[in-house]
Amino acid sequence: MESGKIIVVANQKGGVAKTSTVRNLSYALAEMGKKVLVVDFDPQYNLTTSFGVLPTQAPYNTGTLITNLLLDESLPDTNEFIQKIGSVDLIPSSRSLTVAEANLLMTPDSNDYLAALLNPLRLSYDYIIVDTNPSLGSLTINALTAADEVIIPIDPELFALTGLQALVDTIKKIKRKLNPSIEIDGILFTKCHKRTNLYRRTYGQVTKAFQSLPIFNCQIPYTVKVGDANSYGMSVMELEQANPASLAYLELAKEVLANA
Ligand SMILES: Nc1ncnc2c1ncn2[C@@H]1O[C@H](COP(=O)(O)OP(=O)(O)OP(=O)(O)O)[C@@H](O)[C@H]1O
Ligand SMILES: [Mg+2]
Repeated sequence: MESGKIIVVANQKGGVAKTSTVRNLSYALAEMGKKVLVVDFDPQYNLTTSFGVLPTQAPYNTGTLITNLLLDESLPDTNEFIQKIGSVDLIPSSRSLTVAEANLLMTPDSNDYLAALLNPLRLSYDYIIVDTNPSLGSLTINALTAADEVIIPIDPELFALTGLQALVDTIKKIKRKLNPSIEIDGILFTKCHKRTNLYRRTYGQVTKAFQSLPIFNCQIPYTVKVGDANSYGMSVMELEQANPASLAYLELAKEVLANA
C-alpha cells in the first residue's frame, strides 16, 4: 500500500463544521473502501464524542501521546491507542490535550510533534484526517506542520471572511518554513442555505477575495440531521442515507479522492 495522506480540517473560526466534516468525510471515505484514521486534536473532544466515545473510557489520547513525545518517553503500542469504531479508526482526545498544548508552548521548536506521532502511521492508512481546535495556536500549527492537504470549512451565514486571510497567510508561512508539501485542498462551504441572498453574497465575496484558492464543487446544505447524527455517535449517512447532507458528504469524498 502506498503511504497515506494526512488531511487537516482547519479554520480558527468556531462552529464552521470542522468536526462534522471530519466525522462524515471519514465515514464516506471508509464506505468507498479506503482505510481511514481520524485524529481528534481539539481539547473540546467533540470528534471523540461524535464517535460515541467518552474520553474517560480511553486510556490514551492525543494529549497523553503528545506529552509522551515531549518527555521523550516511548509510545504505547498502536493497537492500544487507536480505537476501531466500525469502519473508521480513531485516536481520541481529552482535556489533557490542553496540558500538552501548554507544554508545547514552553518547548522551543515544538511544531512537529503531531507529525512525529502520525508519520509512522501513514503506512497503515489511505487517509489520516485531523480535526483541529478553533484557534491558530500551537495545536493547529502542529496539525498544519503534519498536513499534506488542508480543508477549510466556511459557514457562509456568519462573517465567513473573518480570519480567513490570517489562516491562508499562516498556511503560506508554514509551507515556506516548516512543511513545503502542504497544499490547500479546498474551501468547503458548510451549513448552506443556498436560496438566501446572504449565502449568495458570501459565496461571491469569498470567490472574489480568494481567487487563487480551490473551492470544492460540493457544498454541504444546512440540516439539523448533521447535529443529530453527531449526538447519536453516528454519521449523517447512517442516520438518513438520502439526506442532502449525506449525499453532499459522499460527493466531498469523491472530490477528495479525485484530488489524490
Ligand atoms: N450541515 C450542517 N447543517 C446544520 N448544522 C450543522 C451542519 N454541520 C454542522 N452543524 C452544526 O453546527 C455546529 C458546529 O459544528 P461543528 O462542531 O462540526 O463545528 P466546528 O467547526 O468543529 O466547531 P468548533 O470550532 O467549536 O470545533 C454544531 O452544532 C453542528 O451540529
Ligand atoms: Mg470542532
